[in-house]
Amino acid sequence: MRIGVIGAGRIGGGAARLLARAGHELLLSYSRDADKLRAQAEEIGARAGTPAEAAAFGDVVILAVPWPAIDDAVAQAGSLDGKIVIDTTNPFGAGGWEVPEGRTTTQINQERLAGARVVKSFNTLTAAFQQEAAGRTGDERVAMFLAGDDAEAKKVVAGLIADAGFDPVDAGTAAQSGILEAPRRDGAVYGEEYRLVDAQAAVEAAQAGRPIPPTPVYE
Ligand SMILES: NC(=O)c1ccc[n+]([C@@H]2O[C@H](COP(=O)([O-])OP(=O)(O)OC[C@H]3O[C@@H](n4cnc5c(N)ncnc54)[C@H](OP(=O)(O)O)[C@@H]3O)[C@@H](O)[C@H]2O)c1
Repeated sequence: MRIGVIGAGRIGGGAARLLARAGHELLLSYSRDADKLRAQAEEIGARAGTPAEAAAFGDVVILAVPWPAIDDAVAQAGSLDGKIVIDTTNPFGAGGWEVPEGRTTTQINQERLAGARVVKSFNTLTAAFQQEAAGRTGDERVAMFLAGDDAEAKKVVAGLIADAGFDPVDAGTAAQSGILEAPRRDGAVYGEEYRLVDAQAAVEAAQAGRPIPPTPVYE
């Protein structure tokens, strides 16, 4: 599959590396340093380009820029109409967390990206942990949550999550995605390692309106 990356830093660059390794075609974009971007792309066997090129290239586009840079990145990308966008962002601003009240960041970004099919994912685990944990097998395989309103888009993203080396776990709609959004807190899976069975139990509890089970601890 062709995947455009807007913001190839720790999260976007890391996801690109995992997906390139799995055989996908990647185009990296949105750097303040074009030489660095080209070198990074070359290293993982990807192309480098502009956000507009990433948007045009990708059947799927990974949005992985800092929260305050989203509007600029989206403006540079141009039309994302009909594209599946993996929204990896968390609302960390210059002065700290800017958690929206009453709406999830997935809903906010779906609005910003009108016409795109937004799926929140790759946002709950640190970039370093994602690189370290990708590809684990059996009982140790790590869950990767996803959420959004477009069921078909979520199927595609679930496939990419599996290709990247994780077990996809659907946490529901954009409105339900609060469970996987920052900050780390009781009642949310954000910031915690989960494996499939525990991840599914957490989602099930949240969707039934029950408190989620205590955060699992793995040996
Ligand atoms: N880091 C984590 O562990 C983690 C975990 C989960 C979710 N997230 C979320 O994922 C998103 C990306 O985070 P990240 O840690 O990958 O960030 P990052 O490493 O700082 O990468 C940001 C990317 O955006 C590019 N960029 C272009 N213009 C920029 C500007 N004006 N200001 C800042 N960056 C600019 C940077 O390129 P150049 O630096 O080459 O210019 C870089 O490729 C954020 O929304 C974050 O909250 C991060």
